[in-house]
Amino acid sequence: MTYLTVYTDDEQPETLLESDDAAEIAATLKEIDVVLRHWQVAGDLPEDAGQEEILAAYRAEVDRVIAEEGYTFVDVAQLHPDDSADWPERAAAARQKFLNEHTHDDDEVRYFVAGSGIFYLHVNGKVHAVLCEAGDLLSVPKNTTHWFDMGTRPDFTAIRFFHDDDGWIGDFTGDPISQRIPDFDTIAAARAARN
Ligand SMILES: [Fe+2]
Repeated sequence: MTYLTVYTDDEQPETLLESDDAAEIAATLKEIDVVLRHWQVAGDLPEDAGQEEILAAYRAEVDRVIAEEGYTFVDVAQLHPDDSADWPERAAAARQKFLNEHTHDDDEVRYFVAGSGIFYLHVNGKVHAVLCEAGDLLSVPKNTTHWFDMGTRPDFTAIRFFHDDDGWIGDFTGDPISQRIPDFDTIAAARAARN
């Protein structure tokens, strides 16, 4: 289930909202032109499913989004903890990639097949931290300032939609704001403590 935390973007950020109410989250995000939808999670996918199998399981939903939004390219990104010696290094490198505030020339559209991650949307003096989980489809419009935190132990499978094959390139703003807003691990722990 999605979990939203909204902060001020001050030097000492204040928490304005914490919510796991789907309607409240959708309405709050709609104010900043961010669309959050939910798909029925495909229950019969094996844990080690590859890209073709995952896309096949969501074919109807994926095709509908492509038709409606004009995306030309779809793939699956996934990262799961393993026992290999280089896992900590790979995890840290993957996490660091989009951990600083940036924009893209294309929309950033992700459907979470499994696992979780937080999109931080910095708009109108506020930071909307959207913790997405399996079943969540988040559409971040192009040029929206944002960053993404997959946590210190990345674990997710996500379908990505693109209009062109270099739309994912990040244009970094240089604003260090992501360093003063609670990170994935902190928000995930706060959310777990509420339940
Ligand atoms: Fe991004």
